[in-house]
Amino acid sequence: MAKRVFSGIQPTGTLHIGNYLGAIRNWVDLQRDFECIYCVVDYHAITIDVDPKELKTASRSMALDLLACGVDPERSILFVQADVPQHTELTWILGCVTSYGDLARMTQFKDKSEKQEFVTAGLFTYPILMAADILLYKAQGVPVGEDQVQHLELSRRIARRFNSRFGELFPEPEPIVTKGARIMSLADPTSKMSKSSGEAHYVGVMEPETSIRKKVRSAVTDVGLTPGEAMSPGVANLFQILEIVCELQGEAATVPQLKAEFADGKLLYSRLKDTTFDRLMGVLRPIQERRAKLAASSDVDGILADGARKAAEIARATMCDVRKLVGVGTGA
Ligand code: TRP
Repeated sequence: MAKRVFSGIQPTGTLHIGNYLGAIRNWVDLQRDFECIYCVVDYHAITIDVDPKELKTASRSMALDLLACGVDPERSILFVQADVPQHTELTWILGCVTSYGDLARMTQFKDKSEKQEFVTAGLFTYPILMAADILLYKAQGVPVGEDQVQHLELSRRIARRFNSRFGELFPEPEPIVTKGARIMSLADPTSKMSKSSGEAHYVGVMEPETSIRKKVRSAVTDVGLTPGEAMSPGVANLFQILEIVCELQGEAATVPQLKAEFADGKLLYSRLKDTTFDRLMGVLRPIQERRAKLAASSDVDGILADGARKAAEIARATMCDVRKLVGVGTGA
């Protein structure tokens, strides 16, 4: 049987190129060889303050973005987390085999909680919900970015602890880390690209071309280096974006050529930016066109309902075994 893969993304409203180049393109590729389950994790999104109306639109919109990027509902399961209630049910049980000390060590919690005035228990226990997402489907592979590796390691510990306390049930999920893709902010290339840092920091996958051009052109670089000096973070980031989008389009010559010019101290950053913009649009344009068509014609709600039905079938079977092993409920 094909190995099962699970991954999740928060409904942040729009997908940015950091999400696409760092994760989603990998999700799309994995569909070729694995049984894939992809989830828009709306329960994760409420760990911090969000507007309920916006959240609802954001989940649908994220699903449309994923479909436009190439997630194929004929081959994979695509659904919204809260449509399958077993996620939260399993979270409670896994919480009872999770160490408080392990949770307190999560670096993402430390970072995020510093930025919140009101730190919820949900923000603290978030990694348990993530473990439940994965283990509910007994997924063996989990495509994640660097920043989620620690959470995934915790999922493995939780699986081990459940298995040793209640009986062998969950496989330990392995990370599938996307090759070389941590896209940085355009305005501050020392931090990861994210929507929450503000408009200037990210490029939306569905953003209008004129706005993308403006953002790429204003990307922070440096004042120009002397030949032989190491690349500054902003220039390295543009090269990283260019490298991936060229690779996606089967274009091998451009990056080595620009890198050689850089090494000779002859590369004009305006040329690097224009080339990056041009090749990036080569990748984004077809996605944007597909997104527009899907928004007009596809039955997203039907696709998500179908996905939730298929996911729930697996989830129910797992929960049946979990309840038996743990000894809760009477089966009433
Ligand atoms: N925590 C992940 C993030 O913020 C999203 C996520 C939730 C996830 N559940 C998951 C990723 C399960 C992989 C597997 O990016």
